[in-house]
Amino acid sequence: MQTVETHQVAVLDRPNGSEGHLPDFNSENYKDAYSRINAIVIEGEQEAHDNYVSIGTLIPDKSDELLKLARMELKHMRGFTACGKNLGVTADMKFAKEFFSPLHGNFQEALTAGKLTTCFLIQAILIEAFAISAYHVYIRVADPFAKKITEGVVKDEYLHLNYGQEWLKANLATCKEELIQANKVNLPLIRSMLDQVAKDASELSMDREELMEEFMIAYQDSLTEIGLDNREIARMALAAVV
Ligand SMILES: [Fe+2]
Ligand SMILES: [Fe+2]
Repeated sequence: MQTVETHQVAVLDRPNGSEGHLPDFNSENYKDAYSRINAIVIEGEQEAHDNYVSIGTLIPDKSDELLKLARMELKHMRGFTACGKNLGVTADMKFAKEFFSPLHGNFQEALTAGKLTTCFLIQAILIEAFAISAYHVYIRVADPFAKKITEGVVKDEYLHLNYGQEWLKANLATCKEELIQANKVNLPLIRSMLDQVAKDASELSMDREELMEEFMIAYQDSLTEIGLDNREIARMALAAVV
């Protein structure tokens, strides 16, 4: 009896879950939206690779560890490229480059200025939390080939989020001010990226509210792990809504 109830709750909890709500992977609308979403994911993995290599140049004694993370990102990129090919979709890489360009620009600026905290926040917290949330939502509605690949990828992204978290936690006393300032500038970019992608995502049966909700969970959990208190987290999260 209890099992039945639990199952019912789980189904109600996931109105867009995989039970009977999968989109038509072969429709023109799906493929058109996929050409942009797939490109964003491929570009995101490439950016992540480049960013971890760059962060390694700021902390040479950790560069080997960061290179390992970077290599994982290239593997993810190849996986998602295969997902597009599997559906017969050509990724719109020009669109994806433009999509990432504001965040890319801010990362490069921070890198040039040697602002390690800002680099970690952008890549290891914001981008990883964004990826984790999007991949979680996607897994529920992906085609079987992409689902398997994405399930493997999301596990790695937690390792990356964790890596950034641990560094920020260990250095919180000296990096808190920069962290809060960098968040104020970059969290609104994540919000606007989400807005830009919402229409294409909904074509893939990925709900905008669900994406935002998953992102805020991953992001706020991560700030808690870093050691910020509830008030600080609430203040930081507000940057997403103003
Ligand atoms: Fe990745
Ligand atoms: Fe990652």
